[in-house]
Amino acid sequence: MSSSDLQLKVAVLGATGLVGRTMIQVLEERNFPVGELVPIASARSAGLVVPFRGKDFIVREPSAEAFRGVDIALFSAGATASRQWASVAAAEGAIVVDNSSAFRMEPDIPLVVPEVNPEKIFTQDGTPEKIIANPNCSTIQMVVVLKPLHDRYGVKRVVVSTYQSVTGKGKAGRDALESELAGEPQAEFTHFHQIAFNAVPQIDAFTDNGYTKEEMKMVNETKKIMDDDSISVSPTTVRIPVYGGHGESLNIELEQEFDIDEVQSLLAGSPGIVMQDDPSARMYPMPLTSHERDEVFVGRVRRDYWHPQTLNMWIVADNLRKGAATNAVQIAEVIAAKR
Ligand SMILES: NC(=O)c1ccc[n+]([C@@H]2O[C@H](COP(=O)([O-])OP(=O)(O)OC[C@H]3O[C@@H](n4cnc5c(N)ncnc54)[C@H](OP(=O)(O)O)[C@@H]3O)[C@@H](O)[C@H]2O)c1
Repeated sequence: MSSSDLQLKVAVLGATGLVGRTMIQVLEERNFPVGELVPIASARSAGLVVPFRGKDFIVREPSAEAFRGVDIALFSAGATASRQWASVAAAEGAIVVDNSSAFRMEPDIPLVVPEVNPEKIFTQDGTPEKIIANPNCSTIQMVVVLKPLHDRYGVKRVVVSTYQSVTGKGKAGRDALESELAGEPQAEFTHFHQIAFNAVPQIDAFTDNGYTKEEMKMVNETKKIMDDDSISVSPTTVRIPVYGGHGESLNIELEQEFDIDEVQSLLAGSPGIVMQDDPSARMYPMPLTSHERDEVFVGRVRRDYWHPQTLNMWIVADNLRKGAATNAVQIAEVIAAKR
């Protein structure tokens, strides 16, 4: 890295997007050692001002020159921009943490959730990988919960249904809901159908096997992050008209019998998890209360009485935070700590 002290030059590609803006906010909140911020977005946004720690930074277009001298580049501008600029930024010496789907399933590129597999951030000689992929938002919050269960009991199969925020589709996804709620005519629906007052059981395109791309990300990314091809994930992903985060109903079949109190304590003591599980007080995770929070919230933990060795639970996380920006900044923190 080029910085002579602990201050790092940090670029954010996609700095004007929902995730990019959240990355900048999270860098500031977590007091990440940013010596210089380089906000980058499309030509549409070049010249705009991004505030960070009381100073204004001018948004630039991507170029090799923009990445020159950058220590860590956080990418959140979509897969096309990542494919175009990740190797350029890496050639300029930056370590790229990429939020898009571009590299997640590349065998040589690690897919990292710091609570699960932080060791993958580094090569065998202890230097950071040049490009590190951030998983899909719905996968991240699920594996944070699966990891301690897998280590203790072995996870055999997960049936998951998601209830995903419109912000998962970026500015366009959020604006579509607001426009529909305002009664404006829609030339075409951003979420395939009207999303206001609705639930749409399609996120991204369908693949040949009848599952959507979003669902197949949960299947494949989970195996890669948990480093276990035997875990079977059966997902249905659904878009709903909320802002604060994604909800997931999980039905988890374990290899071993469990004690439900032990499961509760195991989850409560695991990194990145906050239990909100008191049905008598009507306490359980919700998008409204998970908004702007970095943890994965877990509740409704209960035995599946009709299937052996199986648990049910309901989890929620802010998709722009733990599902994207916070996870990327946590990876950057692990890299910065090793310097
Ligand atoms: N939203 C989520 O919950 C979530 C979760 C996990 C991962 N992700 C991933 O994060 C990425 C960004 O998502 P988002 O929700 O922040 O989307 P968004 O709100 O639509 O923002 C997209 C950002 O990318 C910039 N951009 C687009 N094309 C570009 C190009 N060719 N060159 C440079 N910059 C370009 C945009 O700049 P302009 O403003 O100038 O157009 C904007 O800053 C996507 O890959 C997405 O899959 C999103």
